[in-house]
Amino acid sequence: MSNSNNIIDGKQLSITIKEEIAGEVKAIKADGGKIPHLAAVLVGDDPASRVYVRNKVSSCEEVGFESTLIRKDDSITEDELLEIIHELNEDDDIDGFIVQLPLPKHINEEKVTLAIDPKKDVDGFHPMNFGRMAQGMPSYLPATPFGIVQMLDRYNIEVEGKYCVVLGRSNIVGTPISILLSRKASPGNATVVLCHSRTKDIKKHCLEADIIVAAIGKANFLTADMVKEGAVVIDVGINRVEDESRKKGYRLAGDVDYDNVAPKCKLITPVPGGVGPMTVTSLLMNTLKSCKGEVYDN
Ligand code: GUN
Repeated sequence: MSNSNNIIDGKQLSITIKEEIAGEVKAIKADGGKIPHLAAVLVGDDPASRVYVRNKVSSCEEVGFESTLIRKDDSITEDELLEIIHELNEDDDIDGFIVQLPLPKHINEEKVTLAIDPKKDVDGFHPMNFGRMAQGMPSYLPATPFGIVQMLDRYNIEVEGKYCVVLGRSNIVGTPISILLSRKASPGNATVVLCHSRTKDIKKHCLEADIIVAAIGKANFLTADMVKEGAVVIDVGINRVEDESRKKGYRLAGDVDYDNVAPKCKLITPVPGGVGPMTVTSLLMNTLKSCKGEVYDN
């Protein structure tokens, strides 16, 4: 087993960041300034989405933000949802909002994402924010990559000049984190290799890596024989694996074979308690930035 000195404690770090945000909100209140206000739209009753959204709303309360939850039945039409988005875009009291994904099949997620005003897109999913991020302009960073960047920064992990391997090229994790790590910024300036399902010899790349970000969505994909001694491993996976010993019949496992990989690592994120808790703090940070007009100067 690993010694616990090499754990990147996302749960604790997210608590620290939330305390910092709460402190800022207190100061804003004392000054009579505008309180940050996040809205979340939840369509249908997907159990995982309900948990995520509940967590986002309760985190707003924790830090003193205002929050609005808009719940709609699965039967909502695309036009009705677009109308809600339009109203949120126009509502001056709302600093930012999210539409929780996935949406029911009859609703086009791309259309919904494009309908959100980029200035209120605190999820950072709109191509305008993605493009701004890629060009190093101020933007709302998507939650998971922003959380990873925060972790690297707060744990003083050297990124510049390092060989980083990203596993997975999704729009919301793999591709944006590969851009952020290679940007001329801090953290950044890394040499990044983005590996995916068509990559030849993933193991060869991983064995060279100083930093590995695993976001491939396969339980225990990254095994100890793929990791060099002293690497930093960031595990983005949240996979359900059968476990009869648990009441629910499953447990959550990352993309990393943690028990065997951790002893080789300089630092590693656990699952749960690693990247996951950081995603909500990213959303709060983006909402605060929006309220303060730090990303778009309106
Ligand atoms: N579904 C899974 N992750 C996310 C997220 O970060 N934002 C939204 N809106 N939906 C999601």
